[in-house]
This record gives sequence, structure tokens and C-alpha cells, in this order.
Amino acid sequence: GSGLNGKWVSHGKKFWGTCADSNTLNIASNANIIKSDFGQVTPENSMKWDATEGSRGNFNFGGADALVNWATSNGKLIRGHTLVWHSQLPSWVSSINDRNTLTSVIQNHISTVAGRYKGKLYGIEILNEDGSLRSSVFYNVLGESFVTIAFTAAKAADSTARLYINDYNLDSNNAKTQGMVRLIGRINANQKYIEGVGTQMHLGAGGAGGAQAALTALASTGLEVAITELDIAGASSNDYLTVMRACLGISQCVAITSWGVSDANSWRSSSSPLLWDSSYRPKAAYNSLISAL
Ligand code: G3I
Repeated sequence: GSGLNGKWVSHGKKFWGTCADSNTLNIASNANIIKSDFGQVTPENSMKWDATEGSRGNFNFGGADALVNWATSNGKLIRGHTLVWHSQLPSWVSSINDRNTLTSVIQNHISTVAGRYKGKLYGIEILNEDGSLRSSVFYNVLGESFVTIAFTAAKAADSTARLYINDYNLDSNNAKTQGMVRLIGRINANQKYIEGVGTQMHLGAGGAGGAQAALTALASTGLEVAITELDIAGASSNDYLTVMRACLGISQCVAITSWGVSDANSWRSSSSPLLWDSSYRPKAAYNSLISAL
């Protein structure tokens, strides 16, 4: 193909994706760009805990089903996002303080969400931003064991999706990146629970210089690696080229997902971080990626 994803996969990569949900898929110019230039979609918000299980045991899949059905009808791969995250977490979960209750709540949440889309997802970001073992309800109540609890439940629910851990500030070979590498080493010491590692890469202008070192460090785990939420505030073409080349040069870096299509719909809208401007016109950075690929 001639679009971004088509050029990218011709280099042996799996996909260049973007996030989406009904609010952006309902914008025709946005949906048309996803059809022509992206090979994968990540639900931006609809598969998160607050959207899917707002109260215990009451599941709502309206938004997530819409995204999955759109992707399936349009031949796009899907990354599930995100099953265990301290943010966008309903207060009924964050107020649980005993181990048995929290364990069964995590297991039921993961088995219900992952089970619903069994066989339909390329991968699932099981843990988001808890890889550094921040002070979340999950770590505070269960210690590091919540990681294996979550990945075990996901594998039982969907044996084919690649199970990812995902985090931010893994943008260079910094202390957080090294902590992630050590965490994966501990969890996977006797069994490969974690199958992929994602670096979000919400960057600023000039901030792409450490990307190759970050990807190399993450690849030292032996797992597949993906850039899962790429955007670059105030980006120049060179910033985007640097990230693209960093992934291109590392065989374990299998994919890039942009965190949106047009600046109009970005969570960082005012900093113009994406590849299409707010009128859905391709920016110079898009053209430079296409030429380089
Ligand atoms: O749906 C409600 C709507 O009913 C309400 O009227 C409106 C008023 O504010 O809010 C709407 O919810 C918003 C939701 O996006 C859907 O648009 C939330 O306020 C808003 O906080 C939420 O922001 C999302 C953010 O995650 C939440 O933390 C962004 O769209 C989404 O791009 C962003 O994505 C995260 C990744 O999941 C994880 N990594 C970081 C990344 C950026 O924060």
C-alpha cells in the first residue's frame, strides 16, 4: 500500500496504528485517514475500567464493541487498552482493601473483558503505567503479585492475544526503563507471563534522541517491543524520523501506534503533536515519513 502503514509493513513491521473510538470514527475525514494510512486501532478510552465496569459486575461494552466492530469490518488489527491502570479506575475498585476481594475483582474484570474479545485482538495492554510499581491500589494491597494475577487471568481468557505491559517515560535508557527491564526479568523468571513491552512515547520537540536506547534496553528482555502511544508536542519532521528509524533499526520493535490522527482530537491538541493538522491535512512530518519509507 502507499499509505503510512503500507510503507511501514513493507519493511517487515507488523503495523502502524492509531487510537480511536466512536467520537473520532464518526468524523468521516478522520475515519478515511485511518482506512488509508493505519493498520491497527487502539480504543482510546472505551476499553478502560471506568468505561467497561463502572460498578462491580455490571459491564458495559457499547463503546468497546463499536471500536472492535469497526476494526473488524475495515480489516484493522486491534490492541486492547488497558485492563489494569490506576487512572480511569472507578472508586469502588480503588477503595478495596483486602487481598481476596481485589484478586477476584481483577480476575473477573480481565476474564470478562478479554473473554469478550477472545481471538479478535492482536495484543492487550494488560498493565498500564503500573510497571514501575507505583503506589496504586493494586500494588498497595497485593504487592508485586498483582502482575502475575493479571497476566494469568488474561492468558486463561484469551490464549492468542499478545499480553503486554505498557508504560510512559520509557523514552531513553533511564532508571524507569531499567526498572521495567528488571521487573520483567523477575516476573518472567520461571514462566513467560509478560509477552510484550510497550513504551507510550509521549514526547516533546527534540525529545526523541533517547528512543533508540530505550527500545534497545527494552528488547534486552527478549520480548517483542512496541511504541504504543506516539505523539510529539511541537514536533519537527526530524523528531518523527528519529523515532521511526529507531524502531526500524530494531527487529524486536514490531509496531508503532500514534496516539491519534489529527491535532483536532488529540489529548494534547494545543501542542500540535500528530501527523495531520486540525483540518485533517497531512503535515510535513507525515510527508517526510512517507518519503523516508
Ligand atoms: O466521556 C466524558 C464526557 O461524557 C464528558 O462530558 C467529558 C467532560 O470532560 O469528559 C469525557 O471523558 C473524557 C474522556 O477522555 C473521553 O473523551 C475525560 O474527561 C478525559 O479525561 C479523557 O481523557 C483521556 C485520558 O487518557 C484520560 O486519562 C484521553 O482521551 C486519552 O487520550 C488519554 O489516553 C492516555 C492513555 O490511555 C494512557 N497513557 C496516557 C494517555 C494520555 O493521557
